[in-house]
Amino acid sequence: MSSLATLIKDDSLSSTLRIGFVSLAACSIVGLAAYVGYRAAGPQNKTYALQNRHPESNEQIEKVLESLRLDDEKLRQIMQYLEKEMEDGLSPATHKNADVKMFPTYVRTIADGSETGQVLALDLGGTNFRVLLVTLLPQSRVELTSKIFVIPQSIMLGEGANLFRHLAECLLEFMRKENLSLTGPRYPLGFTFSFPCKQEGLASARLSTWTKGFTCSGVVNEDVVKLLQNAIDEKKINVQCVALVNDTVGTLMACAYKDPNTAIGLILGTGTNACYVEKLDKVGTWDGDYNEPKQVIINMEWGAFGNNGRLNYIRTKYDEEVDLSSVNPGKQVFEKMISGMYMGEIVRLIILDLMQQDLLFIGQRDGYGDYSTPLFTRGGFYTKFVSTVETDEGIAFANTRRVLEDMGIRNPTFDDCAIVQHICKNVSKRAARLAGAALAVLINRINKPNVTVGVDGSLYRYHPRFKRNMEKCMKTMVSKNIKFKLTLSDDGSGKGAALIAIVADRYQRSQLRSVSSFDESEDEQIRIQFQQQPPNPVPPIVKATNTITRTLP
Ligand code: BGC
Repeated sequence: MSSLATLIKDDSLSSTLRIGFVSLAACSIVGLAAYVGYRAAGPQNKTYALQNRHPESNEQIEKVLESLRLDDEKLRQIMQYLEKEMEDGLSPATHKNADVKMFPTYVRTIADGSETGQVLALDLGGTNFRVLLVTLLPQSRVELTSKIFVIPQSIMLGEGANLFRHLAECLLEFMRKENLSLTGPRYPLGFTFSFPCKQEGLASARLSTWTKGFTCSGVVNEDVVKLLQNAIDEKKINVQCVALVNDTVGTLMACAYKDPNTAIGLILGTGTNACYVEKLDKVGTWDGDYNEPKQVIINMEWGAFGNNGRLNYIRTKYDEEVDLSSVNPGKQVFEKMISGMYMGEIVRLIILDLMQQDLLFIGQRDGYGDYSTPLFTRGGFYTKFVSTVETDEGIAFANTRRVLEDMGIRNPTFDDCAIVQHICKNVSKRAARLAGAALAVLINRINKPNVTVGVDGSLYRYHPRFKRNMEKCMKTMVSKNIKFKLTLSDDGSGKGAALIAIVADRYQRSQLRSVSSFDESEDEQIRIQFQQQPPNPVPPIVKATNTITRTLP
């Protein structure tokens, strides 16, 4: 066997090897030159040359985002407008044309933690719908079982009758699963229906308009409790709806169960709205009695603030576009600047605008021929992405990078991530400041030394700095002699509805026992409903499966 040395000495072999080495070297040089040329002319290099690592010091980007900024002076102006709109909503002379409807809810007593009993609750407020079985035990303990059902688009946009049939079917399925008796005494049910309703009693409410993407026909101006009860009765389910509750009211109640200073309920989720405890003599539209307590919870429906054009001077072209492409153009103007249903879309539109101006994803624009990616799809940037992006701290941008890749952006650069995060921060901060200023109007109006605000909703819950931004703004806007507190009201729409239903049910049963002592009150309608039925014994308390027992927050 010849050794390597012998082989190299071999003349013919050494010339072959030499040619090989020379070719290899030539290929490497050509390859390197091609790569260097590609880098020099390539889109990435251009990106690094053009972008600014600090988006806040890039004048062109700042010019775009300037339209989202609301200084204190602008906010104070907005607060004055809101106060005026609230007065219009509360006064019988102006209520009809007022945007902020300020509906009295007929809920006048606030929970005090002594409520006990078992009720069913339905919670309809967004794309999900929940059925709950709630058991309130002594010492503010709550047992709760719930199941989430999806509301398909076809139902959200279809006939109202189908919506209520679907709700009744889900209720029946839940009761079967939980082994609740389907015959015998009727279960009381609290219905959290989170849409603007003109209440005519605790268990009677006419839908004034749909929001949050719903457009079911045949429901506006109808009594929603009747529609639900008919669907329940059609299925011969032994359930009686005893109260309809807005999610803000449920949130206030659930929080008051623990903290007696609670006077406001706030939702920052798919939609936004607030309710608060108002003195009866301030409610010109009140048509009930003036017995103690001389107060009632007002469902403001503040999402409609600005429908009359009052907020046009702070709206951006992105807000206008979001509005025009919604199912309810011209409506819920304030909500569309704040809530989770729209925030991600505002961010997406700004991203597209910056791309158009060659300020973001530079040099990559031509590569995005694929218009089916989420970036180019309406609603493709979810509001939960805003929270995810803003969770990133430092320079790694791991979350932002993941979000952008999900949106269809290949290899986003550091600068791309920094700019997208900057956009998210500006959009969410504007929303937090608007909500904070509106809350300040309520707190100043209530004017008690200590005011607790019960808050719920996915935006408030999951956004890393929404609460902080809101509080910062409120500290400037709330009168200095008032102390306020924002408290997360865990599952207010479920528990709060249950609380109200238990109180309503107890009240109805007591009225049945002493019909003669019933004086004319706002609950007459409830009395009539119950008189039509044989007085029911209380259904047996059931031990629910998968029960979560906890103390209310
Ligand atoms: C509805 C309110 C509701 C809010 C939060 C709005 O779109 O009009 O009734 O409280 O969303 O869910």
